[in-house]
Formats: sequence, C-alpha cells, structure tokens
Amino acid sequence: MDKYCIQTYGCQMNVHESEKIAGVLQSRGMTECDDVARADIIVLNTCCVRETAETKVYGHLGRIKSLKKRDAVLIVCGCMTQRPDVAQSLAKRCPFVDIVLGTFNQSLIGDYIDRFIHTGVKTVDVWRSEKDGELRDTAPARTSGINAWVNIMYGCNNFCTYCIVPYVRGRERCRPIDDIVADVDGLLAQGYKQITLLGQNVNSYAWHDKKFIDLLKLLESDKKYRLKFMTSHPKDISFELADLYACSKNLAHTLHLPVQSGSDRILQAMNRHYTRDEYFKKIDAFRAAVPDIGLSSDVMVGFPTETESDFLQTLDLVDRVRYNNLFMFIYSRRSGTPADEMPQLDYKTKQGRIDRLIKRQFEISKSIASECVGKTYEVLIAEKTGDKCYGKAQNDTAVTFDSVTAAVGDFVNVKITSAVNANLKGEAV
Ligand code: SAH
Ligand code: SF4
Ligand code: F3S
Repeated sequence: MDKYCIQTYGCQMNVHESEKIAGVLQSRGMTECDDVARADIIVLNTCCVRETAETKVYGHLGRIKSLKKRDAVLIVCGCMTQRPDVAQSLAKRCPFVDIVLGTFNQSLIGDYIDRFIHTGVKTVDVWRSEKDGELRDTAPARTSGINAWVNIMYGCNNFCTYCIVPYVRGRERCRPIDDIVADVDGLLAQGYKQITLLGQNVNSYAWHDKKFIDLLKLLESDKKYRLKFMTSHPKDISFELADLYACSKNLAHTLHLPVQSGSDRILQAMNRHYTRDEYFKKIDAFRAAVPDIGLSSDVMVGFPTETESDFLQTLDLVDRVRYNNLFMFIYSRRSGTPADEMPQLDYKTKQGRIDRLIKRQFEISKSIASECVGKTYEVLIAEKTGDKCYGKAQNDTAVTFDSVTAAVGDFVNVKITSAVNANLKGEAV
C-alpha cells in the first residue's frame, strides 16, 4: 500500500481539502500517483453543487471499477456523500466502493483505511456536523505551485434558495485569527508568492471583535506577495474594504463578487438580500478605489420563474459591469432546497438563455483583451515549460511570454503584444 491517487471535483475548498487528505496519506509513507490503474488507494473527493457534478462522479466510478487493481482501496468522500441517502445509494449502486466518508470526518481517513485493511469491513460513516466526533488538524501536502490556500472559515449560513452547500458543509465556523496569521507567515517564509483565503462567504468572517478587514490588515507584509480571497457576498462586502484595496501593498487587484442574477425579483426569490442597484454601487466603489481591478462573477440562468425580461436584466447587468471573467451556470435542481419546490423552467428555455449569455460574455472578454495590447503588466510566473512562461497580471489577466532567465515565482514586467480571442501574449520588458 504505497501509492495513492486522488480525483477532485468541485471548488477550491475541495482542491484544498484534497491537499489535506494527501497530507494524511503522505504522513503514512505513501506517494502520489496520477494513474488509477497503479494506485493502491483511490480517493474521489466529490461535489454536488449541480446535478452534472454528481453524474460525473458516477461515470468516473464506473470507469475506475474496470481500471483499478483488484486489491486497491476505493474511497468516496466530500460534499456529495453528505446528501441524504447518497451514501446508501452509492453503496448499493457501486458495491465496489470500500469506504464512504463525508465533509466533516475526512481528516480521519487514515483510521478508516487501517480498519478496512485489518478487518475487511466496508465503512459508511457520514457525520451530520463536526460535533459528531473528535477531529484532528492535519497538515496539507500542497500541490498548487506558487499559490497556497488557507481556510479562514468553513460552512455557510446564507441558505440561498438554490444552493446545497449549507446542507452539506454545515453552519459557518471561523478559524481563530491568530492561527490564520501564523499559517500565512509560515507560508510566506517558505516562499509562497500568493495566498488565497478560502470561505463560502469571507466577508462575514468574525473572531471575537475582529472582522474580515482586520484580518486583511494583519496580513499586510513587506514581503512581496499577492493576497486573494474567495468568495465574497454582495450583501456583506463593505465599502471600507474598497478603501483598504486602495492603500494595500499585498491585495491583488481582483474581486470575485458573484451576482447570480440581474433581476431584483429573482434575487429576492434566491434569498440574496441585495438589489441590482446596491450591487452596482459596490462595484463602482471598488472600481473607483482600484481602477485596474479585474472583476469576476458567477451568474445563473433558468432559476425557477425567471422570465425573458428577468433574463434581459441579467444580460444588461453583464453588459454594464463588463466582467473580466464570468462563470455561467444553468440552474440545477437540488432536492431539499426551497427552489426545488418552485415552478421550474423547461430545458430548451434554459439552454437558449445560457447560449446567449455565453456569446455575450465572449464578446466582452475579447474586447477587454484587445484593450490590453500595448499595456505593461507585472506578471507572476506560475508555470514554465522550456522558455514558455505562463502567469497572471496583478488583476488576474492571464499572460504567456517567452523568457530564458525568468523562473516560476518571479514577478516580471510584460508588455502585451497580441490578443487572440481572450488569450494574451507578451514580451518581458
Ligand atoms: N459560496 C460561494 C460559492 C457557492 S457555489 C458563493 O456564494 O458564491 C459556486 C456557484 O455555483 C454559485 O455562485 C452559483 O452561481 C452556482 N450554483 C450554486 N448552486 C447552484 C445550482 N443549484 N444550480 C446552478 N448553479 C449553482
Ligand atoms: Fe451557497 Fe449562497 Fe452559501 Fe454561496 S452564500 S455557499 S451560494 S448558500
Ligand atoms: Fe464546493 Fe461543490 Fe462542495 S462547489 S463546497 S465541492 S458542493
């Protein structure tokens, strides 16, 4: 039992949790292998935010069944198994799965593996909350190059009516502020050039009398690094944070502020607690504080009862904001959420709307990219193959350029020479 393979689905939270699982397995002397056919331990860290995410997991399980070594241990964990009945139906549909865990007890994965190897008994153990047992802090085996993820909180209290996350991740829990600061100091000392703070709604972070903005101030450093965070919620993000961007040495000039819809009626039905005008005011404040800020967002089409005129409001919002990057989704029914009980739209309407939205955003991205030609950006190199460097500008614009001398982790000034669709090429200056 010396090789493990982890397949991760879903968001950055899961990517980082897979790093923690890898940490546990490495502390037991195991090494990573990316081929399921050669692995002794196979872990699927799952997502259930949309139906497609779950379908993918079942599809991959079928493939793994025929590829894996006969005595390999197959483990399924993560958000999907926290849904009522999924753990049981997994055990029934996929009897070749050996261990099923949830989101709360993943740090105990080593114990579950031992038990299985020694007794041969399959385990299904999904906790309802972190209080169901004793947890251990485990050190992650980091895999994301120059960037290090740092959790500042877990869970979510917002209950947007479409969303499954609060049900599978539990209520909001914040980590002690001193622990976060110590983690970041340690990571900067190790040479990480970018830190990304993680939480479902980072703007509601609180530790005693300290708020998110106090945490960001404590993370200001003379060391050169980029500080990012996700995800922000438009109802909680403060104007004070815009002021901090204007004077911070470390905050990257990026903001991911998911809007979901441009229609006030739909925002209300989604339980989002802001209007489109309030959203515009916040965007304006951040653009005023940091004129080159790179904005990104999540948008959903086809939420129950969404009319053509609601959808046109979304298109109009996207036109007005001009996001640098937009993640676009078709609403997906999640059983147990309030939106699942509302009148649903047909597939064709939803598909037609997402196609129109994607087309519109493609034009916007192309036009933003063409405006970058001739400008010079400070690029942090994330990857290098041969002389080809790939990295991101301060405002998240992705850039490729050639350099013989520059190395991964360097900050290099790059002048943009061409834009093909949204892909920017440049040269070091
Ligand atoms: N806490 C974060 C991330 C939530 S999940 C946030 O609030 O933004 C990431 C994105 O998935 C959401 O922003 C939303 O756009 C999308 N999403 C969530 N539930 C969905 C559903 N049922 N159908 C389609 N998209 C969904
Ligand atoms: Fe889901 Fe809303 Fe919480 Fe984000 S803020 S995780 S969309 S319930
Ligand atoms: Fe993330 Fe998917 Fe869970 S988006 S929080 S892995 S449901």
